[in-house]
Amino acid sequence: MKTKLGLLYGGKSAEHDVSLQTALAVIKALDLEKFDIYPIYITKEGSWVKGPQLTGPVENVKSLTLSAEASMSPFAMQSAGQVSKEDGDEGFDCLFPLLHGPNGEDGTVQGLLELLNLPYVGNGVLASSAGMDKVIMKNIFAQAGLPQVKYTWFIRSEWEKDKASAYDKIEAELGYPCFVKPANLGSSVGISKCVNREELETAFVEAFQFDRKIIVEEGVVAREIELGVLGNDHPKCSVAGEIIAKKDFYDYKAKYEDGDTAMVIPADISEDNYQSLNEMAISAFKSLDCSGLVRADFFLTKEGKMYINEVNTMPGFTPFSMFPLLWKHTGVDYPQLIETLVSLAQERYEEKQKIKYSF
Ligand SMILES: Nc1ncnc2c1ncn2[C@@H]1O[C@H](COP(=O)(O)OP(=O)(O)O)[C@@H](O)[C@H]1O
Ligand SMILES: [Mg+2]
Repeated sequence: MKTKLGLLYGGKSAEHDVSLQTALAVIKALDLEKFDIYPIYITKEGSWVKGPQLTGPVENVKSLTLSAEASMSPFAMQSAGQVSKEDGDEGFDCLFPLLHGPNGEDGTVQGLLELLNLPYVGNGVLASSAGMDKVIMKNIFAQAGLPQVKYTWFIRSEWEKDKASAYDKIEAELGYPCFVKPANLGSSVGISKCVNREELETAFVEAFQFDRKIIVEEGVVAREIELGVLGNDHPKCSVAGEIIAKKDFYDYKAKYEDGDTAMVIPADISEDNYQSLNEMAISAFKSLDCSGLVRADFFLTKEGKMYINEVNTMPGFTPFSMFPLLWKHTGVDYPQLIETLVSLAQERYEEKQKIKYSF
């Protein structure tokens, strides 16, 4: 029996184009003997378009951007999978949301798929939404006893009422340098590093353009080490990798435009450090009740102090992204990684079907 797999890509998100690249690479890697693949494109405006089954390799991303004229209601996803119109065609065996950022990685799409009772790859509603909000994520990590840099947060209306005390609080509790970030975004958008009050003021204005809530963190001088986690109830870690930014920090431009960063895999760290990061990554995964995958990102200082920075519930997923490369070095190549994620999705779905809804 082949697996009928729907790939969700594009999305109403700043990371739309990255998602297209990912979809192209995933399609290329999937074994057509094992999978029937259906493209489901979400336009930048948020329309859902299902394309015909892919019977061969796709040449370029252009052929993946389907026309919104044929769009459907997202609620039609269940019947959209019933392509043969025969009795017993239960629709998609699995959906793979290859979506990053808000409207895809934040629990919204996951919630839709839950309502439709469709199996899907990756994190559920709770882990996705908690992982998207840096304040909620850090509060949960704090509760799990994970070491983090000092942080505080502000709501826009609070700050508008009394800006000076917001800045005073930061200077008293965190000092400079500090990092100002929108709470619900990724890809370094809206993030600033500040070394004085003037920069802090500018950074607040900038970050509040992207969210009504912002987080401010103590800045550390540290190496950036990342681990991949894969699994459901018994997650496993990959080897560690290091991001070396040639810029002051790993900003949007460095990430996507300049290629001004290098990845070192495996990272040159001690076995003891690796063991600690491994435990922290698993603890972070469990604390957010993750499933499928996350990439856990850490700071490692010269003095050997380790802090968790964040987890990404749908990390960059092209074959040249950190997460797939970490697993490649751990012995799981890209096609195997995709197949493992689909199996994990089905395992979690089966598990969920055991739940009783009446008593
Ligand atoms: N507290 C901090 N101290 C030092 N550098 C930081 C700090 N927070 C963020 N950075 C730098 O900014 C980058 C982006 O921040 P991050 O919190 O990872 O946001 P995003 O979710 O956009 O990836 C990090 O990879 C790191 O280079
Ligand atoms: Mg990051």
